[in-house]
Amino acid sequence: MSSPLMAIIWTLIVTAATALVGNIVILYQRRIEASTIPTVGSDTCHESELKERYVHQADVLLRDGYEKFKNSIFQVITPDGPRIFLPRRFAHDLKPFTRHEASGMKALADRHIGQYTTIDHESDVMLGAIKIDLNRNLGNFVADVQCEVAHCFQLQFPPCNEWTAIDLHEKLLRVVAQASARIFVGYPLCRSDEWLECSTKFAQDVMIGAEKLKQWHPWLRPMAQYFVPEMRRIRSDHRWALELLQPELEKRLKSSNTTESDSYNDMIEWMRRRAKKLNERTFDDRELAKLQMLTATAAIHTTRLAIIHALYDLAARPEYIEPLRKEILEVTNGRNRTLQKQHLTQMRKLDSFMKESQRHSPPSVATFQRKAIVPIDLSNGFHVPAGTIVQCNTNMLDEAPAEWGDPNAFDGFRFYKLRNKPENTNKFQFASTSYDSMQFGFGNDACPGRFFASNQIKIILAHILLNYDFKFEDGIVERPKNIMFEVNVLADPSIKVLFKRIP
Ligand code: HEM
Repeated sequence: MSSPLMAIIWTLIVTAATALVGNIVILYQRRIEASTIPTVGSDTCHESELKERYVHQADVLLRDGYEKFKNSIFQVITPDGPRIFLPRRFAHDLKPFTRHEASGMKALADRHIGQYTTIDHESDVMLGAIKIDLNRNLGNFVADVQCEVAHCFQLQFPPCNEWTAIDLHEKLLRVVAQASARIFVGYPLCRSDEWLECSTKFAQDVMIGAEKLKQWHPWLRPMAQYFVPEMRRIRSDHRWALELLQPELEKRLKSSNTTESDSYNDMIEWMRRRAKKLNERTFDDRELAKLQMLTATAAIHTTRLAIIHALYDLAARPEYIEPLRKEILEVTNGRNRTLQKQHLTQMRKLDSFMKESQRHSPPSVATFQRKAIVPIDLSNGFHVPAGTIVQCNTNMLDEAPAEWGDPNAFDGFRFYKLRNKPENTNKFQFASTSYDSMQFGFGNDACPGRFFASNQIKIILAHILLNYDFKFEDGIVERPKNIMFEVNVLADPSIKVLFKRIP
């Protein structure tokens, strides 16, 4: 055998052996730590039953853990192995760590095997474009988002002259995707059916592809990924996104050095400018397409879900509909008015309702998920070895401060009332994060898109409230129960809401 070939084989063997030994050491370390903390349900259930319960009843398991172990750390057996849950107070311990020491994105990437699903991709260009540029420009886009929302309802919704059953999951996916795309890729690409399909399907392929590939042993995954249709589609989604973006990018290239180029003010431009500023030499159109897919993944499904939860809460408690309508009409001074940023700020009852809805139906029952990139010692002496994922058990409603009133009740105007006190006027907003309100995370790496999401949700809910009456189909009298998928809180997709247009 030729010596270069032997050298390659030896390199591969040494690399594999090093990785194997490294993994064994990490697993060993984690096992030592894991053995010192109690496991929820291990006294009554088999491991397979516990895994099943985690998938469908993580909320119940975490409640059991909270009640049994109160202020102590516990673990839960999941299909991905044991997972460590920290009581809320440990969020204070984790908060000072930077994203390079305790990473939320790496934790998410691990859950969705990001090395295969392509989401293990932390980009300062993307984060800067959202955190700085998007948030700085929020006020400029209210009317644009409102315009896309109205356009979408007009074309995608049935006339609803009579009570008409609407599949909110399907319809709102389009509305949110189009309204977001207006800011992410601009007009006219934001109305392209193909772009909207590509940017929404990518997230589904990632979620489903990851679940299917996880069924394979980790050693087989490099090969198995080619047998999972969604995994193959993820690669074609990236190619498709690039193909769809290219004409827009070429158009912009041609118009550079003209006055038209100054009119572009969207995520495409912000990402390009940030890449230049950060001197990202590897940034090209392919990377831009990838970051657009990742931004859409973070933005669209989360926002749609928050709107559906709020609409289910409203349909279950119709007594809130009129006061909210009244507020919107007062703030905007009439129907069909062009919205401005301050109108959204003034919709304080709506903001409060959205926050209460999110308190009861958060995106996840465990936020502040972090993968320790460096070893971390918590204030109680618990050692989190590098490579371990921890998260806070943040959905125990009874932990709410006493001044919030009955923590378990649904009080749509709870935060409105709290904000009426002069010292609280800027607190308790939907997009505010705090120790008591961690639905968007907490600290430096809390969701950077929450202000945009807040505006979008208000614009869409205001459109619905002013233009439609809505109620559940006959037979549904209570707020439909949420469906758990692991720690994610999903709205029941089988529920239809009836809409009737207000003349
Ligand atoms: C109602 C809608 C949304 C919800 C419920 C939501 C929720 C979250 C949560 C819980 C996190 C993790 C925070 C943490 O670990 O501390 C997060 C992170 C993130 N979100 Fe959102 N999000 C929403 C909308 C958006 C939008 C519209 C965008 C983009 C425009 C976005 C972009 C991101 C990004 C990039 C991260 C990662 C931040 C980082 O690691 O530094 N999100 N989001």
